[in-house]
Amino acid sequence: MSAIEIKNLTKKFGDFTAVDSINLTIKEGELFGLLGPNGAGKTTTISMLATIMPSTSGEATVNGFDLHQQSDVRRSIGIVFQDPSLDDELTGRQNLEFHARVYHLPHDLRKQRIEEVLTLVELSDKADMQVKTYSGGMKRRLEIARGLLHHPKILFLDEPTLGLDPQTRRNIWEHIERLNKEEKITIILTTHYMEEADYLCDRIGIIDHGKIIALDTPEDLKNIMGGDILTLETHDTEKLKNILDFPWVKEIKVFDGKMNVTAKNGENAIPIILGAAAKHKIHITSVNMKRPTLEDVFIHYTGRTIRDEEASDRDRMRMAMRARGGWRR
Ligand SMILES: Nc1ncnc2c1ncn2[C@@H]1O[C@H](COP(=O)(O)OP(=O)(O)O)[C@@H](O)[C@H]1O
Ligand SMILES: [Mg+2]
Repeated sequence: MSAIEIKNLTKKFGDFTAVDSINLTIKEGELFGLLGPNGAGKTTTISMLATIMPSTSGEATVNGFDLHQQSDVRRSIGIVFQDPSLDDELTGRQNLEFHARVYHLPHDLRKQRIEEVLTLVELSDKADMQVKTYSGGMKRRLEIARGLLHHPKILFLDEPTLGLDPQTRRNIWEHIERLNKEEKITIILTTHYMEEADYLCDRIGIIDHGKIIALDTPEDLKNIMGGDILTLETHDTEKLKNILDFPWVKEIKVFDGKMNVTAKNGENAIPIILGAAAKHKIHITSVNMKRPTLEDVFIHYTGRTIRDEEASDRDRMRMAMRARGGWRR
């Protein structure tokens, strides 16, 4: 059975289509990423799958349950929201106890399960401190622990490292990986950080304007670009171009006295190209190699970039609020 099956799922807000007929199957045990810029429709997609928001049309099953079987779906999933939603005045443990009560976790299981999830996210020794003393990363881990209280098979993480510094981000990645690999939890995360999707995900769906425009493993998405890009500088670009008729050269572009050669396995290609150039007495003054990134893939499909610094004002405000610990839902 697939963890999630999505057929033509659509969400409209008035005339505006936020999620546009998405089709997607997520396997059990998969760590799946929805990668896209702000406003692409990531949160809206997750909200529909978590039965927080009704769809306009289309259908989906989560853990085998139709979205209309709301309580069955909700029992199957954990969710960590994009916006922080902890009570800062309570301790970590009290936050979990409150949640366990609201979600009717049986009383005799509650204490044990709280200890288990605290151990999972390595917060046992900080559990009795007020959340307002926690760092950003600790708060995020506590939210993940809370999402795991009822033993969900599937965990949704909406921008799990938004606004965290790079080191804390790495730490959260390790936790996410461990939950997936060791606890066998199917994870669907959203992100607009390419390195995050690249590092963590088994497969990535690139989403833009509510549509999935590419879907594959990070490696195969990057392979779409045809190989590594070698930038060569020489005084004789025309002559060099003529001798590079190797089968593994996918594309040659000449610009401003430089040449971009797209080649499979760039590190093997460099010595061969240099050898051929030397044989023909072509002097190459510099060589640079760049492996394609998911950024290149995004540009390939959309003609735009997806960079972090393009975070919207809403995003920046959210980060500022998070830093001050003052955001309540
Ligand atoms: N409740 C809403 N009412 C109207 N428009 C909305 C609502 N929620 C989201 N949108 C719009 O839908 C689009 C997708 O939003 P969202 O799913 O939050 O994107 P993402 O999570 O990828 O940044 C955006 O243009 C957003 O402004
Ligand atoms: Mg979002």
